[in-house]
Amino acid sequence: MLLSELAMKANMTTPKTILITGASGLVGESLCAALVARGHSVRTLSRSDQGDHQWDVAAGQLDSRALDGVDAVIHLSGESVAQRWTDAAKARILDSRVDSTRLLVDSILAQEKRPAYIAASGISYYGIDCEHPVDESSGSGKGFLAGVTCQWEGAAQSLTEASVRTVFLRTGIVLSAKGGALAKMLPPFKLGVGGRIGDGQQKMSWISLPDLVSVYVFAVENVSVQGAVNAVAPEPVTNSMFTKILGRVLGRPTVFPLPASLVKMIFGEMGKETVLSNLGVLPKSLIDLGFEWQHAELETALKQTLS
Ligand SMILES: NC(=O)c1ccc[n+]([C@@H]2O[C@H](COP(=O)([O-])OP(=O)(O)OC[C@H]3O[C@@H](n4cnc5c(N)ncnc54)[C@H](OP(=O)(O)O)[C@@H]3O)[C@@H](O)[C@H]2O)c1
Repeated sequence: MLLSELAMKANMTTPKTILITGASGLVGESLCAALVARGHSVRTLSRSDQGDHQWDVAAGQLDSRALDGVDAVIHLSGESVAQRWTDAAKARILDSRVDSTRLLVDSILAQEKRPAYIAASGISYYGIDCEHPVDESSGSGKGFLAGVTCQWEGAAQSLTEASVRTVFLRTGIVLSAKGGALAKMLPPFKLGVGGRIGDGQQKMSWISLPDLVSVYVFAVENVSVQGAVNAVAPEPVTNSMFTKILGRVLGRPTVFPLPASLVKMIFGEMGKETVLSNLGVLPKSLIDLGFEWQHAELETALKQTLS
């Protein structure tokens, strides 16, 4: 057998059947492709008829065949956080996550052979302003999003109690040119009118999209992955540093700061809890589990993302 074949064999894992919610989103699309490339069988659960199976969370309905023979459920779906937080938007952001989790949990518990549950969560669990770096052993913080993530994870508590393998991937800022925070920053930066936000001292904890996808695959394939896991790159950076590196990668100046007062005026509470938040998050669990990042440094990640 050739060395390359041996290496491939060593990397292979038993094929699994995986049910994914939110598969049409930024993370879901790339993740489905990666899982299929690893030999897994993927089923999608969606609100629309684009999915293999459908669910209507408000009506408490989930296609009963969706979980048949499934080894793992990956729960990504949820109303976008990137909008002005009216009372109605806040209710959608919370309910779309908590109610859908409850429906999935009940369906998982009803199975004879219960699949593992791997869910998206956010680093906003730790709050808005962390003076020191935090890891998975740190407590939850203050703010609307911190409350959402606590309730989102809490809604799956009965799975842990029933000894179902449960993983919460507390995800940082996902770097992609197709969506999320970076895609929104790109137009002004490309025009050369980008700059730091506020005083630029707030820490940003980020992860490249390929690395986040690998974290999900890692969580599916390794039973030792359990509980809260920070899905971020090893080194958080300040917003000033992020700005400088993004400008360098794009070959553009970054001399137009965006004042915090303007961010608060335009984006309100959402701006305060996202672009102005100060969250230095460390991926202690991933390091302990031996996960290897493809993009551990921001410059490499941005070059790859924007190439
Ligand atoms: N991207 C990031 O930077 C980031 C950072 C931290 C955490 N996360 C979390 O990771 C998960 C995946 O992120 P993403 O960026 O891939 O999300 P996304 O692109 O916004 O996609 C989420 C999916 O959720 C479903 N959805 C949208 N609105 C919904 C609603 N009101 N009720 C129920 N389902 C709804 C949609 O799937 P269907 O139409 O097929 O149902 C959609 O494709 C999300 O829960 C997000 O909060 C993302």
